[in-house]
Amino acid sequence: MRSHFNSRLGFIMAAAGSAIGLGNIWKFPFEVGESGGAAFIIVYLFFCFVLCFPILVSEIAIGRRAQRNAFGAFKVLGFPRWAVIGLLQVVVSLFILSFYNVVAGWSFGYFIEMLIGNFAIGEQFPQYVQNVPRIMVYSLLFMVVTGYIVAQGVSAGIEKYTKLLMPILILIILGLAGYALTLPGAKAGLTFYLVPDVSKITLDVIYNALGHAFFSLSLGLGGLMTYGSYLDQKANILSSAVAVTFMDVMIAFMAGFMLFPFVFSQGIATEGGVGLVFMALPKVFASLGSVWGIIIGGLFFLLLSFAALTSTVSILEVSVAYLRDEHRFSRVTAVVVSATVIFLLGIPSLLANGSSEFFTNFMNYGGVSVDFMTFISDLSSNTFLPLAGLLISLFVGYIWRPDQLIKELSSDGYQTIPIWVAVYLKIALRYICPVILSLIFLFTVLEKFFGVQVIG
Ligand code: TRP
Repeated sequence: MRSHFNSRLGFIMAAAGSAIGLGNIWKFPFEVGESGGAAFIIVYLFFCFVLCFPILVSEIAIGRRAQRNAFGAFKVLGFPRWAVIGLLQVVVSLFILSFYNVVAGWSFGYFIEMLIGNFAIGEQFPQYVQNVPRIMVYSLLFMVVTGYIVAQGVSAGIEKYTKLLMPILILIILGLAGYALTLPGAKAGLTFYLVPDVSKITLDVIYNALGHAFFSLSLGLGGLMTYGSYLDQKANILSSAVAVTFMDVMIAFMAGFMLFPFVFSQGIATEGGVGLVFMALPKVFASLGSVWGIIIGGLFFLLLSFAALTSTVSILEVSVAYLRDEHRFSRVTAVVVSATVIFLLGIPSLLANGSSEFFTNFMNYGGVSVDFMTFISDLSSNTFLPLAGLLISLFVGYIWRPDQLIKELSSDGYQTIPIWVAVYLKIALRYICPVILSLIFLFTVLEKFFGVQVIG
């Protein structure tokens, strides 16, 4: 018998825990910072609700109908050729987790630094990430904890821990944002954050916002398909999906309310990129004095670590479910095998921030040199995830067909789906998603590889 989530809340917490992660708290603010504030947010919200939501619902519904992992699901539904999407998802999940886990390790390491009051770590970030033995230990530790939770199974592991961690996470972020808003820089921070500068919307911004919407909602990797496969027939997919989308967007928003006031209170530039959180924030915490600095700084990096943990758990479960369903591995063996492969794949990312010349200047696009970690993260989130989204929308729109999706969403008539929702999902999956996703690809290929300036 396939294990299932015990409660509706358990599934929502697990899925929201997957969605809410480093993407919301670390990546979202720096993407906003680099792309000129609120203009990015508007594009991002459009993508989340209009484009990604139908795909999110589809992923969960495919998983629930098939009661199988992301690869096997397509076979169970009777379309073995489409299982290629699933196989790609399983493979890419290993790559995404490989670098994600490295950043998760940094976060946990920073939590320790905050506890000992070492605020100078902000300036030492470039050296910190080059201390390979140390960050390797942290990322190994993070992988072991992730593996431990996944090894306990769906309800005794994933559900139990996400139900515990998510409320703590929400409380911490509300508390920190409330506190940040009282700081002197709050107004300048919020102005930057909330006043859109439409002239900044270039193709690159659109492309990043799209990639980020997919990444943030955990789409295109089979994570939600896998979680969906642990739902029973009574679960209400549509309302759960709405809850997950709102929570994800809200937490990213809150992260901005917390971060920009913090950063502006110290007059630190916002284009800090990757280092925004790791370099700027410790300075802010230092300015609060040692007691409050330790408390607020400690809470912040604890928040970041918890957010990362509920996401690493969901990504690991993709390959674990695959190995269990398709190759009859026991849960523990599947965890050990996947986690080991992922940890080894993460080694180039561990070396990509200065320790190895080769991985630090790994690629050159458009005259800018990028390190291995940025390369793999761009490639997987900005290119692969939307591509998987395109394939899923084509699959549901034309192969499995929208009426099957609607039938699944209504649990074979057990729930009623408002007619406008059904109509919207159908139009979105057949036309809107395929057209917009293909166009963005086409434009990007034209611009990146042929130098044709399409927008902006
Ligand atoms: N959504 C998570 C974040 O924002 C990361 C994540 C978890 C993810 N599962 C995923 C990203 C699946 C892509 C696909 O940090």
